[in-house]
Amino acid sequence: MRIALLPGDGIGPEVAAAAARVLEEFAPELELEKHLFGGAAIHATGEPLPPETLAATREADAVLMGAVGAPEFDGAAVRPEQGLIRLRGELDVYANLRPARADGIDLLVVRELVGGLYYGARGVRDDGTVFDTMEYRPDQVERIARRGFELARARRGHVTSVDKANVLDTSRLWREVVVRVHAEYADIELEHMLVDNCGLQLVIAPERFDVILTENTFGDILSDVAVGKTGGLGLAASASLGDGRPGIFEPVHGSAPDIAGQGIANPAAMLRSAALMLAHGLDRPDEAARLEAAVDGALVDAPTPDLGGAASTSDFVEAVLAGIRP
Ligand code: IPM
Ligand code: MG
Repeated sequence: MRIALLPGDGIGPEVAAAAARVLEEFAPELELEKHLFGGAAIHATGEPLPPETLAATREADAVLMGAVGAPEFDGAAVRPEQGLIRLRGELDVYANLRPARADGIDLLVVRELVGGLYYGARGVRDDGTVFDTMEYRPDQVERIARRGFELARARRGHVTSVDKANVLDTSRLWREVVVRVHAEYADIELEHMLVDNCGLQLVIAPERFDVILTENTFGDILSDVAVGKTGGLGLAASASLGDGRPGIFEPVHGSAPDIAGQGIANPAAMLRSAALMLAHGLDRPDEAARLEAAVDGALVDAPTPDLGGAASTSDFVEAVLAGIRP
């Protein structure tokens, strides 16, 4: 099993090193290979996703990523985030799973990841107008809807499909296709919700949700709202899956330049992403569950400063390793 490890920028290399340390001991048969990505790759090669890195990810069984982005690139023509958007598209990882769990809350955001505003036509008109366009083809909606219903089947059997069908044509297409696909999933309960109301419901009644199925931009925003209710970005992991391997596994958090280099980054989101990699990317659900449990234990025994504790990144890693040792 080959894992392409893309540390990236800011705290990315620190949490990536934490994951490498844990996996080397916990799953030594995995071959981890580091590659340049994001701002670090722009510095070294001029582009955020160098051809060597893209080729290595294609050959890997899974891609494990730290974080990309740095303030020095704000407004620049070549930016770290472009590498991430391109990599998602190249690997066609259309289903982004973002679980959010805390007392009474257990929901999964299923975000369409390779369509919509992020990938639509964009440009500048002669009069100076700048435009990004939200575009969806029916087959793009169909495959993510199917994935959402499948995932709900392994959970509590409820899907909330989120759109803005009172305004957007893409949302009316979304709703129509979701309803059509739902006909094959009679055992799953489906409701539709407008995105503004979903934001509100996530804040006032997050426990009502099981699977939230939505398009790219809405999912970006709603998943941050959801993690705001479940312990914050330091804890939130994600899996981005296509129809085969490799998937991309990455924390929801960014590169956190304000705390980079201090050894205090919370590696929980990264380690949970590694657990999602074991479960969804490598078909090793039992090991995933053991790693999850060890991370939960470390959150109690060795909380980092973002959680009000005083543990360093490496203290946290030691606590996780103690939890997985037989
Ligand atoms: C995320 C991030 C990315 C996104 C950025 C870094 C491009 O916010 O994974 O949620 O918008 O998808
Ligand atoms: Mg985001």
